[in-house]
Amino acid sequence: MVRGKLILIEGLDRTGKSTQCENVVNALGNDAVLIKFPDRTTKIGQLINQYLTDKDFELPAQSIHLLFSANRWELKEEIHSMLKAGKHVVLDRYVYSGVAYSAAKGIQGMDISWCFNPDKGLLKPDLTLFFSNSSNMRDREGFGEERYEKVEFQRQVRDTFFNVFDQIKDSNRIVIDVSDKSIDEVFSEIKPLIHDVINKELGECVY
Ligand code: TMP
Ligand code: MG
Repeated sequence: MVRGKLILIEGLDRTGKSTQCENVVNALGNDAVLIKFPDRTTKIGQLINQYLTDKDFELPAQSIHLLFSANRWELKEEIHSMLKAGKHVVLDRYVYSGVAYSAAKGIQGMDISWCFNPDKGLLKPDLTLFFSNSSNMRDREGFGEERYEKVEFQRQVRDTFFNVFDQIKDSNRIVIDVSDKSIDEVFSEIKPLIHDVINKELGECVY
């Protein structure tokens, strides 16, 4: 049995990640499953959801950071089993969001290396597509409803993502500029990249 591939789409809020994840999963048909982080359906995910949607529900930055990581660990074995069974797993956010959003808060001691530590040992994607945009997030419908959806914080997260990429090396990561591009244009750009990774023979990797 040839193992499936782990494909990650990352980026800022409202850059079209979820739409493209669906496009990719649909294009791959029965051979693919979509997993979105945070997975808000688990016990830990419900706490995360409350933190994101209820501004009166406060947690120390360190605690919520560890919950996001714990949410990924909850699904590690399930993802591993699916890959071993030959399914491709498409992730909508993962470790890089985990590190970038927390480190962007600028809290003393919570630097990139501290933030990355709890994720060490998780499966490393075979392909990571990072959706980057210049400044049109505010135009997206619904922007501003959740905790981190503030233009100034998103700017900090954007810069932090690139600092994360400097520190956490990953030759399978590609930046896609989605500014002013339609859903179809972005999909045409990523389709050949997906096709390539699906057809490659690769060993398994962990962070
Ligand atoms: P979502 O909008 O993709 O559902 O993600 C919810 C928010 O959670 C989004 O602002 C990014 C943030 N986030 C973290 O802060 N840490 C993480 O580990 C993940 C996966 C998401
Ligand atoms: Mg969001």
